Amino acid sequence: MLAMNYRGPRRVRIDHKPYPEIKHPQDAIVRVTRSCICGSDLHLYNGNVPDTRVGMTFGHEFIGVVEEIGPDVQKLKVGDTVIVPFNIACGKCSFCQQGLYGNCHESNPQATAVGGIFGYSHTAGGFDGGQAEYVRVPYADVSPTVIPPGMDPDDAVLLTDVVPTGYQAAEMGGIQPGDTVVVFGAGPVGIMAARCAWLFGAGRVIVIDHIDYRLEFVRNYAPCEAYNFKEMDDPVLFVKKMTDWMGADVCIDAVGAEAAGSPLQTITGRKLLIQAGSATALHWAINSVRKGGVVSIVGVYGPTDNLVPIGNVVNKGITIRANQTSVKRLLPRLIDHVQNGVLNPKAMITHRVPLEEVAEAYNIFSNKLDNCIKPVLIPPSARG
Ligand SMILES: NC(=O)c1ccc[n+]([C@@H]2O[C@H](COP(=O)([O-])OP(=O)(O)OC[C@H]3O[C@@H](n4cnc5c(N)ncnc54)[C@H](O)[C@@H]3O)[C@@H](O)[C@H]2O)c1
Ligand SMILES: [Zn+2]
Ligand SMILES: [Zn+2]
Repeated sequence: MLAMNYRGPRRVRIDHKPYPEIKHPQDAIVRVTRSCICGSDLHLYNGNVPDTRVGMTFGHEFIGVVEEIGPDVQKLKVGDTVIVPFNIACGKCSFCQQGLYGNCHESNPQATAVGGIFGYSHTAGGFDGGQAEYVRVPYADVSPTVIPPGMDPDDAVLLTDVVPTGYQAAEMGGIQPGDTVVVFGAGPVGIMAARCAWLFGAGRVIVIDHIDYRLEFVRNYAPCEAYNFKEMDDPVLFVKKMTDWMGADVCIDAVGAEAAGSPLQTITGRKLLIQAGSATALHWAINSVRKGGVVSIVGVYGPTDNLVPIGNVVNKGITIRANQTSVKRLLPRLIDHVQNGVLNPKAMITHRVPLEEVAEAYNIFSNKLDNCIKPVLIPPSARG
C-alpha cells in the first residue's frame, strides 16, 4: 500500500509499505479516505520529537472505512465509515475512566510520558499513522465513532483533532462571561480555539500570529480581532495596552514548540534542541495574562525542560491548564455543533492533495505557502 515515509528531518516521501495486519483481537484495519497534516506533524517533520524513527508513517487525523475487524471487536462492523480520534485509548484504565483519553495508561509502552497517538513517534507508542491507504486501529471499539449520515467527510476528518483541540483549549481557559481571551497562533487549532471561545461566553477575542493571510482568515471566521506580532514592539505590552493595563483574563497557547518571535528561544529550542522547543508563545501568554488569570496550553512541547517564566506564574497566581485533547469525550457534543451549524470546520480546508504528493503537501503546510491553512490528503481509492 502507499504510505508516507519519514526519512529524517524535513525529508518525507511516499512509499510502498506492507498492508497492516490485525495484531490483537481488538484491532481493526481502516481504509483511509481522508487524512490531514497537522501542526503537530511539523514537530516530527522538523526532527523535534524524541525517538521519531526513520521509516515511520505519520498521520493522527484520519477517517475511513472499516475493512477488517479482530475477533473481539463488537461495536464496529466491516463497512462502517468512522472518525478515528487521534488518541489511542484503552477505555478501561483509571485515566480513560475519568474521560482523560489523551492520557491513557495502557496504549503506550512509554505510559508515563503520554497516551498512545497514531503516527507520533515511539515516544507516543510507535504506531504507524493514517497518511497512508490503510492503518491498524487498536482498541477499535473504544474511540472510533461512526460518521453520522449526511456529515461531510471534510467536516468529519477535522473532528479527529482540530475541532476538539480548539474547543478544549477554550474549555480549559475556564472562560467567564465577558472575558477577554487572547489566542496565540492562527493555525487551524488557534482559529478553532478563537471560534469556540465565544461558545463559552467570551466578551472579546484577540488572535496574535505573524502570518497575515491567517490573521485575515481568523478575523472573518471566528470572528475576532487579529494582530501581527511583527508589527508590535512587544506583544506583551500590546496585550496589556489593549486591556486597560490589566492583562487578558485568559491566554491560549495554540503555537507550541515551533514558535517564532524570539531569537534566543528559536536557537535553543528549534536549532540546538537544548530545550524542548521554542517557548516564545508560552512566554507571551504567561506574561500577558492578568493576575489570577488562566493560561491554557494546547501547543505541543517535548518532554524535556523549557525556559519559561515560572516566577511570573507564581507571583501572578496564574492557573495553568494543559493537555492533549480527549477527543472521545468531546465528540458527541462537537458532532452536534457541526450538525447544527454552530461550527463549520471544513471552511479551514484550503488544500486537497493526492496522497502520492505528500512531500509537497508538507512543504506547503510547513512553509505556510499558497495561503495554506489546512491540507487534506486523499488516497487514490477515495478519489472519484
Ligand atoms: N494538545 C493537543 O491535543 C493538540 C492537538 C493538535 C495540535 N496541537 C498543537 O497545537 C499547535 C498548533 O497546531 P496547528 O495545527 O494550528 O499548527 P500550525 O503550525 O498550522 O499553526 C501555528 C501558528 O502559530 C504561529 N506562530 C508562530 N510563532 C508564534 C508566536 N510566537 N505567537 C503567535 N503565533 C505564532 C504560526 O505562524 C502558525 O500560524 C501545535 O503545537 C500542535 O502540535 C495540540
Ligand atoms: Zn493534529
Ligand atoms: Zn486507558
